[in-house]
Amino acid sequence: MIAYAGTVKIETDRLILRKLDHEDAQSIFDHWLSDERVTDNRVSAAHKSVTETAERVVKIINGHDKKDFCYWGIELKTTEELIGEIDLYDFDNTTGNCEVSYSLGYRWWNKGYGTEALRAVVDFGFSHMNVLKISAAHNTDNPASGKIMSKVGMRQEGTIRDMIYNSKNQYKDCAVWGILRDDYLKNDL
Ligand SMILES: CC(C)(COP(=O)(O)OP(=O)(O)OC[C@H]1O[C@@H](n2cnc3c(N)ncnc32)[C@H](O)[C@@H]1OP(=O)(O)O)[C@@H](O)C(=O)NCCC(=O)NCCS
Repeated sequence: MIAYAGTVKIETDRLILRKLDHEDAQSIFDHWLSDERVTDNRVSAAHKSVTETAERVVKIINGHDKKDFCYWGIELKTTEELIGEIDLYDFDNTTGNCEVSYSLGYRWWNKGYGTEALRAVVDFGFSHMNVLKISAAHNTDNPASGKIMSKVGMRQEGTIRDMIYNSKNQYKDCAVWGILRDDYLKNDL
């Protein structure tokens, strides 16, 4: 049985994973949701105005009231900037499975932050929520995402053709990855 705990604050060496505030909308817009270099790797289109982002933030803040809502803003400890987001979602109470997704602002790519945040959330899911499997998918033309999945111990389980139809009217093949709680705990990853 999944032990829902809501969006609990998580601290890593360089990051704080935390709930969002209304004041975060501008940073989210500026740092990643208005930037096509980031959003081209997501399903939804880049935001054109901060109002759009603020509406999304309201939905997320309302979600924070629910125990089965796990959405973290990723804050850099040194500068206190909000640099990205990561969430666990699509919880299935029958199988104990869920999905993970994440995005970081372009300025902060390739500094190990994605791996650090994903590792912390995978650990949280298995060690504190009793999730049995965590899965994720990335466009095959976005290998950096697969790289961080591999670095936290996830395994590629296959490729699904035309899995996504994105906001630019393109079909994308996706690599699907997963990690089992048993393997995670056994391997002490
Ligand atoms: C995917 C993402 C979160 C990775 O975050 P990050 O902080 O840059 O990741 P890290 O720095 O921890 O690791 C990135 C790894 O990918 C590697 N990498 C980067 N670009 C690559 C490329 N084109 N091909 C192969 N590997 C690549 C880096 O070398 C690094 O591996 P290394 O540490 O072994 O050198 C970030 O790129 C991002 O937000 N992308 C846009 C949104 C997105 O793709 N979300 C996921 C949707 S599934």
